[in-house]
Amino acid sequence: MNTNPFIISSYKSPNFFCDRQKETAQLQHALENGRNMVLLSLRRMGKTGLIKHLFHQLKAEQNIHTFYLDIMNTHSTEDFVNKLADAVLGSFTSKSKKIFNQVLQFFSKFNPVITFDPLTGAPSIEIKPHSEQQARNSLTGILDYLESQNKGIYIAIDEFQQITRYQESDFEAFLRSHIQHLKHTNFIFSGSQQQLLTSMFTSYSRPFYQSSDFLKLERIDREVYAEFIVKKFKETKKNISKDKALEIVNWVDAYTFYVQNACNKLWFISGKNVTEEDILQTQRQILDERDAIYLNLQHLLPKAQYQLLQAIALNGGIDKPTSKAFVNRYHLSTPSTVNTALKILQSKEIIYYENHTYKVYDVFLEKWFQKQGG
Ligand SMILES: Nc1ncnc2c1ncn2[C@@H]1O[C@H](COP(=O)(O)OP(=O)(O)O)[C@@H](O)[C@H]1O
Ligand SMILES: [Mg+2]
Repeated sequence: MNTNPFIISSYKSPNFFCDRQKETAQLQHALENGRNMVLLSLRRMGKTGLIKHLFHQLKAEQNIHTFYLDIMNTHSTEDFVNKLADAVLGSFTSKSKKIFNQVLQFFSKFNPVITFDPLTGAPSIEIKPHSEQQARNSLTGILDYLESQNKGIYIAIDEFQQITRYQESDFEAFLRSHIQHLKHTNFIFSGSQQQLLTSMFTSYSRPFYQSSDFLKLERIDREVYAEFIVKKFKETKKNISKDKALEIVNWVDAYTFYVQNACNKLWFISGKNVTEEDILQTQRQILDERDAIYLNLQHLLPKAQYQLLQAIALNGGIDKPTSKAFVNRYHLSTPSTVNTALKILQSKEIIYYENHTYKVYDVFLEKWFQKQGG
């Protein structure tokens, strides 16, 4: 039996990955030429997937070593060190026993606790520094150790903006001052809090000022995505026309996560040939499944925010939400109330602003509102 070719969790292999050729090359060229890269996009557009895709391609390169760490749930230097240590140990697991033992030997000076996952055998390391200074020494120690490997070291730090929230307020300066001396180590700094991340790298007074290139990840081209969908159906002995594939892509605004989800469902419910009814059923099911969660929003959000969210959804996005026409059309209260609600919805990442338009982040939620009507 064929397995579902539309991945909705983490990266699997190039076979399930759509396009991003240009972006993959851009990222690779920056690193190869000793430049760091800031990778930005809306949430769920495909940053993590892109990093994993590039690193997967570099696996065969003898002279390059890649490390990926997601620092979303870290709050301190100690947490950061542990993420890095874990990434380092984990990536050496697949190497020869000799190399792995060398790495273990290196870590032994930090008195770590090393555990092995009983099922997968994957090692995990925990370092417990006794002071901030010791934590920093461990961090620079690990980076210097990697630097000394005589290889190109690529380190991707996902959700990088998180370091601005660390207890130690000068972590940003500390990290920058150390990594700027590394000659063989380059970084991908990735994140979806675009304003925060951009200001870290473009504000004159910030430590990371002008230390990186920028790559903004946009939507995958709709035609290209549709062709990918047709191909994946065909490979798994099913047929979908290009028009129907495009219909699904357009329904979810070509937003990667939602395209993957919708196609995953469509593939599952369709027979050998995808019909219009299959598409309608996919759409219905997706929205029905989320009914309970979405209905609850009314109780979770203050009225002004809920009404504005609903209005933006019904309108399919809006350029001027405080305009009289919009406020009147959706019976919102006053422009100033709208303005306040807008800012809060944005800060809660329920809506986003891009290309002069405010949009609902969750594409399925927008469709759900539209289905309910005004
Ligand atoms: N080019 C792609 N082709 C197919 N699926 C992708 C692609 N990029 C991302 N995905 C999938 O879409 C979802 C969201 O992508 P992710 O990389 O986690 O986004 P981000 O890191 O920007 O929040 C994941 O399930 C991921 O596997
Ligand atoms: Mg991510």
